[in-house]
Amino acid sequence: MGERPIVIAHRGASGYRPEHTRASYELAIAMGADFIEPDLVSTKDGVLIARHENEISETTDVASHLEFADRRTTKRIDGREVAGWFTEDFTLAEIRTLRAKERLPFRDASWNDRFEVPTLSEVLELARRKSAAGRTIGVYPETKHPTYFRSIGLPLEETLVEALHAAGYQGRSAPVYLQSFETGNLKALRGKTDLPLIQLLDEEGGPYDLYGDLPKGGRTYREMATPSGLAEIAAYADGIGPNKRLIVPARPDGRLDAATSLVDDAHRAGLLVHPWTFRSEERFLSPDYDGKPGREYEQFFALGVDGVFSDFPDVALRTRDAGRQLAGDWKARRNR
Ligand code: G3P
Ligand code: CA
Repeated sequence: MGERPIVIAHRGASGYRPEHTRASYELAIAMGADFIEPDLVSTKDGVLIARHENEISETTDVASHLEFADRRTTKRIDGREVAGWFTEDFTLAEIRTLRAKERLPFRDASWNDRFEVPTLSEVLELARRKSAAGRTIGVYPETKHPTYFRSIGLPLEETLVEALHAAGYQGRSAPVYLQSFETGNLKALRGKTDLPLIQLLDEEGGPYDLYGDLPKGGRTYREMATPSGLAEIAAYADGIGPNKRLIVPARPDGRLDAATSLVDDAHRAGLLVHPWTFRSEERFLSPDYDGKPGREYEQFFALGVDGVFSDFPDVALRTRDAGRQLAGDWKARRNR
């Protein structure tokens, strides 16, 4: 806190290359990102790989592999019925035969079918190799569906911590943050490692391990974002990664309301604040920014966040490093 905010390349420079590919991470590093973010799931043989979810038909060409046609199935994942192909049904050798593709139809598909699905080890090796040039590239891994993976005998946490410790990431100042939307696995991680931990908070719902499948759920993220909830988080984590709408709410028409007190509340609890996800396309931008993505970063930097997750790290970096933080304009919108 108090230092310049970090720029976390969300799934790599995923605004420009298919997410979670070597090309996406390399471009983010070339742009100057401070951290690259691999979301992690497991293969059948227990290898951690970088995918946003364990169902991989939206981000790989698995559906066109006839040899895997009979692996298509439906599963219940975190309370939802999901149909498709799942990483836990494939060995790493099989995953290696797939190629990544762009998820979003309005982004550049010309990079499809070129890149393999990277493993965590390969992401760590890339960060290490690029850091050797005199700049430290941090890694910001997220455990995806941790309760589910533990339930099928493929827990993520032990493998993740072993890989990080073996790669030399040790202690609270290591260039790494471990993140999760769940709480139980973060608390368990606190007992296994000194590495910094980040509790993710979404705008709606709650952590699967506390909220569950119940229609009205148990503990909500909004309860966790109150001062008393933040104090509980501070007992096991070093920061929060909130949906940016918990900091700057938006109305149904996209217009913004005054900022909440979450950044200050979290700082008072001793927690870092790394909101997500910043995207440049107009469809993701509030009309209050007049089509200028830089204005959104300016607002959040003025509010005092410690970092941002961005699909477009070049825009985040340009805004941060230009120092054009129009604090006056935006702070006037705060009401608490
Ligand atoms: O991990 C921060 C942010 O990435 C959370 O959203 O769904 O993109 O992993 P998601
Ligand atoms: Ca993530």
